Amino acid sequence: EEAASDGETETYSVATDNNYIPFEFLEDGELVGFDIDLINAIADEAGFEIEIEQMEFSGIVAAIPSERFDMGIAGMTITEERQENIDFSQPYYDAGLVLAVKDGSDIQSIDDVDGLTVATRVGSTSEDYLNENTEANIEAFPEIPEAYQAVLTERADAVLYDLPNVQYYAETETGGELQIVGDTLTGEQYGIAFPKGSELVDEVDAAIDALKEDGTFGDIYEKWFGD
Ligand code: ARG
Repeated sequence: EEAASDGETETYSVATDNNYIPFEFLEDGELVGFDIDLINAIADEAGFEIEIEQMEFSGIVAAIPSERFDMGIAGMTITEERQENIDFSQPYYDAGLVLAVKDGSDIQSIDDVDGLTVATRVGSTSEDYLNENTEANIEAFPEIPEAYQAVLTERADAVLYDLPNVQYYAETETGGELQIVGDTLTGEQYGIAFPKGSELVDEVDAAIDALKEDGTFGDIYEKWFGD
């Protein structure tokens, strides 16, 4: 955290991931995505500078409470458990978890996975969901692309993860080999994460409101998700 002297623009540190299409990922070595556009627009709107640092997702969840960063944006679901030591902005994206299988699988929904191997990412809401709601053998990988690969190579029977990421991966990386089955399982909302008690929350929330009003938020949404 850098304290600015009078008249200088504040610079805040932002922790993000680089392995979560289409929210934050590397394209020709450059960090891009919905979250990256959104946090830059928020900074412009609120009138502060940001310094983005990339790290793996579980590291962000752990680092925010310890105040190592001023904020974190990483498609992070607002959960009661996380709210014990993280403050969140207003929700900025509605997601949910979906099950996906390799084309031709017999699995039709989450009701079919007991006793089978389901891949996901370690430390995610999907891992919690599988623990709490199924008798599946959970295989939690350090990064989600490995979970998709495990399904495509038949080392796992299915993968559970956030709908927008599964959808993007299925469309851009597999050409129909990975298919979503069953309903969207949970309603989840993403929020920007702050250390408890951060005074930045109100400023960021006000900026999000302004970006929604002036159409910027809608433009960013459309850029990454269409319509
Ligand atoms: N929404 C899920 C969660 O909060 C998954 C987030 C994964 N995000 C990431 N940048 N890898 O647990």
